[in-house]
Formats: sequence, C-alpha cells, structure tokens
Amino acid sequence: MDVFVTISQRSSVRTYKPTDVEEDKLKKVMEAARLSPSASNRQEWKFIVVRNRETKKKLAKAAFGQSFIGEAPVVIVACGTESKAIMACGQPAYTVDVSIACAFMILQAYELGLGTCWIGAFKEDETKKILSIPEHVRVVAMIPMGYPDQPPSQKSRKNLDQIVCFEKYE
Ligand SMILES: Cc1cc2nc3c(=O)[nH]c(=O)nc-3n(C[C@H](O)[C@H](O)[C@H](O)COP(=O)(O)O)c2cc1C
Repeated sequence: MDVFVTISQRSSVRTYKPTDVEEDKLKKVMEAARLSPSASNRQEWKFIVVRNRETKKKLAKAAFGQSFIGEAPVVIVACGTESKAIMACGQPAYTVDVSIACAFMILQAYELGLGTCWIGAFKEDETKKILSIPEHVRVVAMIPMGYPDQPPSQKSRKNLDQIVCFEKYE
C-alpha cells in the first residue's frame, strides 16, 4: 500500500471485533517498531504485548476507564528504557524515539487491516505496577489493536497554510 494512502486513510479505532490478531501480523507490527529510527540508533525501548484479558481490563482502568482498551484483542505498551538521555536540541530522546516507533507500528497495523488508537491518557504508576515495569523505565503510550468494528471516521485537520510557513516562522 502507498504510504500516503495509509497516512491519509488511517483513523483511530476504538471498537474492535473479537477476532484475534494473527501471530504473523503481530510480528510484522512489532518488526515495524524494531526497524524504526532512534537517536544515535540507541533503541532504548521495550514493547510489551498484552493479550491476557484480566491484564487488559486493568490497563483500561489505569487509562481512566477507557473501556475499549480492555476489549481490544491486543494491547501494546510502549516503554522507554533510558529516560536520562537528552538530545542536543533539549528534547528527551526516549519520548521522540518511542513515539516514532509507535507511529510506524500504527501505520503498519493499518496496512494489515488492523485498527489502533494511540493512548496517552493513563496513570503511569498504575500501568507500571500492573506490568511489573522497573522504576527507571518510562511508559510512553498504550496501543490497543484489533480488527475494526466501526466505520473509518472523517479527518478533522487544520489546513496546510495554517501549519506550514516558508523561510521563517510566521
Ligand atoms: C499523543 C496522543 C495521545 C492520545 N491519547 C488518546 C487517549 O488517551 N484516548 C483516545 O481515545 N484517543 C487518544 N488519542 C487519539 C487522538 O484523539 C486522535 O488521534 C485524534 O483525535 C485524531 O483522530 P484520528 O486518529 O482518527 O485521525 C491520542 C493521540 C495522540 C497522538
């Protein structure tokens, strides 16, 4: 599939069919994370794949009761394993690196017919307890994933001329 088609057609999916995600598809999504770029190619990340029903319910609770997370066949919890590295530009590397990997996974999933939703609203401490994540590791996102059981939603976006300028900030 054309990358731009994937980018323009993907939308967040919050209702999933109970159909399980095939192992080969899951592996391809995880490969998309593995092959993502990272600052200095450090790859300081870990992706926890959760299929256990009870664990997913607990994650949904940690995500302020966003119950659809518990209904997804798979939930990927994306973590940065080294949070101290600050890039020369002042940004922490792990948030950027892990976010790129999540974006790549989301696009790969879409190409495979799978729906996802980026989850940024969750209690990190609670999430870490549920999954036995060590203290120094940071949780960047949860990504519930499964076959969509909802029509694609319309994109609401600013126009290009509102977000792009040329030669200097305007
Ligand atoms: C950093 C980030 C955090 C988000 N957190 C949540 C969330 O906690 N729950 C949720 O339902 N959607 C969440 N979303 C999804 C956005 O609401 C969604 O991407 C946005 O409205 C655009 O819609 P689209 O994904 O369908 O194009 C998040 C998206 C991003 C990028």
